Amino acid sequence: MNLPDPLDRHALAELARDVAEQAGRLIVQGRPDRLEVSSKSSRRDIVTEMDQRAQDALCEALAAARPDDAILGEEQGGRPGTSGLTWVLDPIDGTVNYLYGLSPFSVSVAVVEGDPTTWGRWSPLAGAVVIPPVGLTYLATLGGGAMVQDAHGAREVRASSATELSMALVATGFAYGAELRCVQTRAFVEIIPKVRDIRRTGSAAADLCWVADGRLDGYFEAGLHAWDVAAGQLIATEAGAVLHGLGDEVPNGELYAMSAPGISADFAALLRSAHRSS
Ligand code: IPD
Repeated sequence: MNLPDPLDRHALAELARDVAEQAGRLIVQGRPDRLEVSSKSSRRDIVTEMDQRAQDALCEALAAARPDDAILGEEQGGRPGTSGLTWVLDPIDGTVNYLYGLSPFSVSVAVVEGDPTTWGRWSPLAGAVVIPPVGLTYLATLGGGAMVQDAHGAREVRASSATELSMALVATGFAYGAELRCVQTRAFVEIIPKVRDIRRTGSAAADLCWVADGRLDGYFEAGLHAWDVAAGQLIATEAGAVLHGLGDEVPNGELYAMSAPGISADFAALLRSAHRSS
């Protein structure tokens, strides 16, 4: 497949940003007083009517702009394509925060090449994450760096210069299933004495953006899907952060981690030993 040239990637990132910002406005301004909620893989894994409405709006806008590309979203409704590119969407990442009126929740839109249903078989070319409660929009293109836009304008983002794991602020998240949560909790107990502290923000996409701009030094989680991370991954790696999994494997559902370059070797070793003994 011929990869889109850098100029096209820039146009793809702008499209990702525009549709994500539109969806961000929809979920904030269109939120009804009484939100309809149903459950997915477990009673804790929920989808609100606004997740579906935002995904439908994203699909409509992307299909109109890029009719040959496939779409894979967290919620129902996607489409096959012929171009070799797939838009990977999380219309509300942090749905539980959104339901409870907490921050952050985000809209994540990435365009990837490869097969985003299988870990290790896809890579992002462009992406954007909008975090409406804090007014931040992050975007990146492969090889073109990562930026954040806020009320004051746009600036390039860089991962933190942390070098000492014991002083690193890291984030994590927990799966919806009780069994995986128990494994994650056992690993957590091994990790927390070795770092400055751990945050659980509730949005994997926001966590990755905050590793990208140095608000966090690292992030790890198990049980994720491509739609949680595709855009944030590109934003963080373009900002100089290091992507890692368990050992030499590519990051996957078993462990997905991102950290500042100065702590990545120590963080990866800690995560490996914590998860192997869990
Ligand atoms: C969830 C969030 C959360 C993470 C969960 C994800 P959703 O996404 O990213 O931070 O811990 O693993 O499933 O369900 O709100 O789109």
